[in-house]
Amino acid sequence: MDSNVPPFSIGRIPTVDLSGTAHFLEDVLDGLRQKPKRLASKYFYDHRGSQLFDAICGLDEYYLTRAESEIMETYADEMAIQIGRRVMLVEYGSGSSVKTRQLLDVLIDPACYVPVDISEDHLLQTAEELARAYPDIEIAPVCADFSQPFDLPPVAAAYSHIAVYFPGSTIGNFTASAARRILRQIAGQVGPGGGLLIGIDLHKSNETIERAYNDAAGITAAFNKNLLVRINRELDADFDIDQFDYRARYNIEQQRVESFLISNSRQSVTVAGEQFIFDAGEPILTEYSHKYTIDGFANLASPAGWAIHKVWTDRQRLFAVVHMVVESDPPLQASEPDR
Ligand code: AVI
Repeated sequence: MDSNVPPFSIGRIPTVDLSGTAHFLEDVLDGLRQKPKRLASKYFYDHRGSQLFDAICGLDEYYLTRAESEIMETYADEMAIQIGRRVMLVEYGSGSSVKTRQLLDVLIDPACYVPVDISEDHLLQTAEELARAYPDIEIAPVCADFSQPFDLPPVAAAYSHIAVYFPGSTIGNFTASAARRILRQIAGQVGPGGGLLIGIDLHKSNETIERAYNDAAGITAAFNKNLLVRINRELDADFDIDQFDYRARYNIEQQRVESFLISNSRQSVTVAGEQFIFDAGEPILTEYSHKYTIDGFANLASPAGWAIHKVWTDRQRLFAVVHMVVESDPPLQASEPDR
């Protein structure tokens, strides 16, 4: 057999209905009608936004990526043992699956890898590269917004259990109630005995945290402002980008970074024909980035049925990668609002 040809064909990506632009418009209008105004950070990641986020990950101030890489480099072998053999590994928000390769390299006889991402082009390209690099692992990509329920794809490979990999402290971008809902969703997908390997940023001094979100080169500011550029382009809006300043502060009580775009004058903005008035100094909340203690995270996860089995941290204890297992059927819950 030609060694360049993967044994499994990737085929058509099972895609859930993302109804992209319709949801984007609805969410933007709904957010701007609220007081305080808000925009959802999941919309940061268009092509330019993804490039800016990659640049953030390389910044000196943004310790998260470095700390998580240190953990993966040091402890991937231990993680593989915890995860167990013949796993179906599902990655929430796979992007270019860079961190995943460290895991795929050491997993014990993995059955299949299911990258889940909202960007179909990116997903397909990454899936093809991975199929080439790991010819013995079935690659079954799913194009979905993982913050909403979605089905895992049928796979040909025989697997013994499912584990979800959710790196990068992306869980921190959700409110506590939304994070709980996602943890419950994952518990339902993997079932009793299934696992979750999740990256979380740890609570620490506010100087270190605020520096990470207010970098000197202004990349994080550009990342936030790019959302306005995207709204102008995709939703027929007329934000004057220079009339907004970016600011992020660590709310110690809530243990979260709160990021804002602040109108620097009284102004009117039109989005898809609807007018919004901004006062001088009025903020738009763009993102929460929650920071956790291990105990706090255990309390968040345990109502969804999760028990922490192992925690790895970097030498400075800035970041943690946590392995949890579903020990019981996740309890049924009434639905809760996102925020
Ligand atoms: C993706 N997410 C975990 C990043 C964070 O740290 O909240 C997004 C980000 N926002 C500003 N810088 C990075």
